[in-house]
Amino acid sequence: MSEILQSVRGMSDVLPAETPAWQAIESLLKQTMQAYGYQELRLPLVERTELFKRSIGEVTDIVEKEMYTFEDRNGESLTLRPEGTASVVRAGISNGLLHNQRQKVWYTGPMFRYEKPQKGRYRQFHQFGAEALGFEGPDIDAEMIIMSARIWRALGLSKIELQINSLGTIESRGVYKEKLLEYFSAHEDQLDADSKNRLHRNPMRILDTKNPEMADLVAAAPQITDYLDDESREHFSVLKALLDQAGITYTVNPRLVRGLDYYSRTVFEWVTDQLGAQGAVCSGGRYDGLVEQLGGKPTAAIGWAIGLERLIALCEELDCVPVVENPHVYIVLAGEEALKPGFQLAEELRDALPGVRIEANCGGGSFKSQFKRADKSGAQIALILGAEEIENGVASVKPLRSGNEQRSVVLADLAGALATELGLQ
Ligand code: HAM
Repeated sequence: MSEILQSVRGMSDVLPAETPAWQAIESLLKQTMQAYGYQELRLPLVERTELFKRSIGEVTDIVEKEMYTFEDRNGESLTLRPEGTASVVRAGISNGLLHNQRQKVWYTGPMFRYEKPQKGRYRQFHQFGAEALGFEGPDIDAEMIIMSARIWRALGLSKIELQINSLGTIESRGVYKEKLLEYFSAHEDQLDADSKNRLHRNPMRILDTKNPEMADLVAAAPQITDYLDDESREHFSVLKALLDQAGITYTVNPRLVRGLDYYSRTVFEWVTDQLGAQGAVCSGGRYDGLVEQLGGKPTAAIGWAIGLERLIALCEELDCVPVVENPHVYIVLAGEEALKPGFQLAEELRDALPGVRIEANCGGGSFKSQFKRADKSGAQIALILGAEEIENGVASVKPLRSGNEQRSVVLADLAGALATELGLQ
């Protein structure tokens, strides 16, 4: 195939056969957000490069290796967003949304990271994220997690486990970083080039290494949980109590430090063993210092983002893809004379039955081939209109899945009959 016909490596089309699953999952996510009082925030795909450097951190995989950065015609350095939290904070500050106010927002759309593509890891991928800004206490941490658990429940997902940890405050993390620096410096000969480079700049990022040769060294490193300040410890213990009360099981994973620098206190990931190496389906945490760091007033905040490709893959793996939106009714137009009255009938039925998906046959074809299309479309009912029906002022209703008999229905009664057959009344 000629190269220009291939999509860019790590970036895929979502084909019509796949979009119903996406839409069903997205609509469930939106409904859930509404139920918890979150509002949508639509963000640009492109931001100033500096925003991501200052928020995600200069010494992180994302900023060092994965950003799609370019100069615009004005010579300004811009970056395709690798995530949404930085933009939410920027939009919150610049639009005055955080001024003596709290915000609960959600966003969705493509993110871009120049990673090595593999199953579950792409260069253009989609996140659905939720962020709550202006909330300090552990109650919102619990609510965020409970909200995500509700989504898994609504989808019927199992095999997805919650890991939580606390990273403490920026100050207590400073102490921990010193300890890490001491530890890794004492084993400098075992560090790979990347980690040596990070040793003095950001030793916590050594813990994210994917190099198996360093796994033992990292496993024996000091644990952040041993350096928590009292308030963070208390915050974490209230969160755990609230999760216990909500019946949400979790594992405390002291090694969970997340790959972005803006986190403080609570961090969490929902992980699955069903998708190979890329097991994190939803990740997030608190970023209490970020608003101030980017120039706003001190504002506590927390959020998570779901990787939609991974969530959908998990739903497919576990046979939990929500109902696919096939047409309810497929209108078979037998013979040329059926075209005009058939189109009119389709419009009348769409008026009479809002929300019912009605597909009228287009492109002609014999009765047999139209009937095959009706079946293939997944419709519940084939509605047949031919010369005989037109003459008698009826249409034939043929249920395709319920096993009910085909019958003639006068046009005036048709909407009611379809609604009954579809179980809508
Ligand atoms: P993150 O862990 O970098 O966090 O990404 C969140 C989720 O996006 C991951 O758990 C994963 O499901 C998905 N994901 C990440 N990279 C890829 C990729 N290359 N291909 C496919 N899926 C991917 C964040 O982005 C934070 N902004 C989350 C957050 C929101 N924290 C607070 N608020």
